[in-house]
Amino acid sequence: MRQHTTAEWQALDRDHYLHPFTDLTKLHGNSSRIITRAEGVYLWDSDGNRVLDGFAGLWCVNMGYGRTELAEVAARQMQELPYYNSFFNTATPPTLELAELLAELSPPQFNYSFFTGSGSEANDTIVRMVRRFWDIQGQAGRTVIISRDNAYHGSTMAGASLGGMDYMHKQGGLPIPDIEHIMQPYWYELGGDLSPEEFGLRAARELESKILDLGADRVAAFIGEPVQGAGGVIIPPPGYWAEIQAICKKYDILLIADEVICGFGRTGAWFGSDTFGIVPDLMPVAKGMSSGYLPIGAVLVGDRVAHSLIEQGGEFNHGYTYSGHPVCAAVAVANIRLMRAEGIVERVASDTGPYFSKLLQELAGHPLVGEARSVGLMGALELVADKSSRTFFPKRGDTGSMCRDFALQDGLILRATKDTMLFSPPLVMDRSHIDEMVELTASSLDKTAQALGIL
Ligand SMILES: Cc1ncc(COP(=O)(O)O)c(C=O)c1O
Repeated sequence: MRQHTTAEWQALDRDHYLHPFTDLTKLHGNSSRIITRAEGVYLWDSDGNRVLDGFAGLWCVNMGYGRTELAEVAARQMQELPYYNSFFNTATPPTLELAELLAELSPPQFNYSFFTGSGSEANDTIVRMVRRFWDIQGQAGRTVIISRDNAYHGSTMAGASLGGMDYMHKQGGLPIPDIEHIMQPYWYELGGDLSPEEFGLRAARELESKILDLGADRVAAFIGEPVQGAGGVIIPPPGYWAEIQAICKKYDILLIADEVICGFGRTGAWFGSDTFGIVPDLMPVAKGMSSGYLPIGAVLVGDRVAHSLIEQGGEFNHGYTYSGHPVCAAVAVANIRLMRAEGIVERVASDTGPYFSKLLQELAGHPLVGEARSVGLMGALELVADKSSRTFFPKRGDTGSMCRDFALQDGLILRATKDTMLFSPPLVMDRSHIDEMVELTASSLDKTAQALGIL
């Protein structure tokens, strides 16, 4: 890579680079941050500043940076077979090994994988696959997929349509037909006077109302993230998932758990479905599967759908050039083996997850924090104007951005969704890293409160 000064990199950025999910107008007049290297749970920018990564890249670098094992596997596979496709009755060894490993790790109903290049592509595959499934059953009228407001399922046409982000729907004429949305189980914002459990049941029962409005013979599937990630680390109240499952069963609707964030240890189990007792028919996965070292996703396909596709479906007219890319698959296999060898999932469940939860709960006493919540190593703090009435700031987003910027100045990357501060650190963080992350957060909360005149 060429050596440039920060100003030179920034000039290249300004002149040639369109960033994803970025206010391009604002950025164009400002300077981007250039990240040049990383090791463990730290990143360095082009000015040599070190920052603690409280967000695992983008919910994905679960095994941390600088794992030479993964780089070596990629280099070896690139020399042996850098690419071959899976079309035309062909497969490659790393892809088959990964499919076998996923069948072993995932809940018992999953024995097959369909590979993709990302989580968004996995959700595009989901839309095609569930509609194809019902077609094969002689119920081609079942085309509607029900999702939730404020869900995130990716940024392709189908992914963004399944997602429940209004600001995404507004650009590009979305959602595509036959995608419907119901209320999200976000008690803190929407629960009013109901207890979390009462509210969870109310939110779940919206699924039944929607099915009855549409007619069950039109509904193909329900999709939900076990914990909504990008929407604000929204952990559903106890009872929510059980009720959703009962409704899906009653109307024979396929259940899709989007495990793109929750999968591969984030919640302290291999899958969020394990943590929440969900028994899905399909699971899109990506991110943590390769710790983000190379782009790869998959749809884990439960036996009911897989057997139908195999036994009755004939050709499935769908796939990507990079479905089952051998180098990405080899890295994913190596990543999963590393996770197992280091007992990372068990450590999140029994040690670092509970430790993080304890420290985060201590921040709930801060005057700005209305709620602290976490599961495994994903967590959130709600910053509010009034704690007792759960009242948000009038202009939502400003306080969260301010807190995020103070954290960055002090050497910590966090993310803010409106005024909710989100945490999703690499799963390899140890207790001392968690101490550092929470201390830096506490100081940015203080600085935010001082700036608002609250402290
Ligand atoms: C739950 C969920 N599904 C799907 C996606 C899309 O994945 P990708 O960005 O790899 O396309 C994401 C990305 O954040 C996600 O959080």
